[in-house]
Amino acid sequence: MDGLLILKGKTVTKEVQPQQGSTLLEHALKHGVDWQNLCTRGTCARCRCYMEAGAELLEAPTKAEERRLDPEELEEGYRLACQAIIKTPGILIALNKTYF
Ligand code: FES
Repeated sequence: MDGLLILKGKTVTKEVQPQQGSTLLEHALKHGVDWQNLCTRGTCARCRCYMEAGAELLEAPTKAEERRLDPEELEEGYRLACQAIIKTPGILIALNKTYF
């Protein structure tokens, strides 16, 4: 898959090859980015992220994201990394942005 995924964790930023069908969190864990997470099923929101680029390259938000995030957050480009699956090749930049 072509493209580039830039993952900005708490202290680590990495540029990795995006894998179609995998979540942003799976990428972060696989590549050793310190991305916060707890439940991995869309309820704790620790993995929340802001898409600085490439939000349109992700699958549509899951039911869990729609429950956990406000419509305004989704519109602004916030996603849950454990739910957000890469759909299309391209350039994506994701910043782990927790509430606290
Ligand atoms: S890890 Fe809990 S919502 Fe993603």
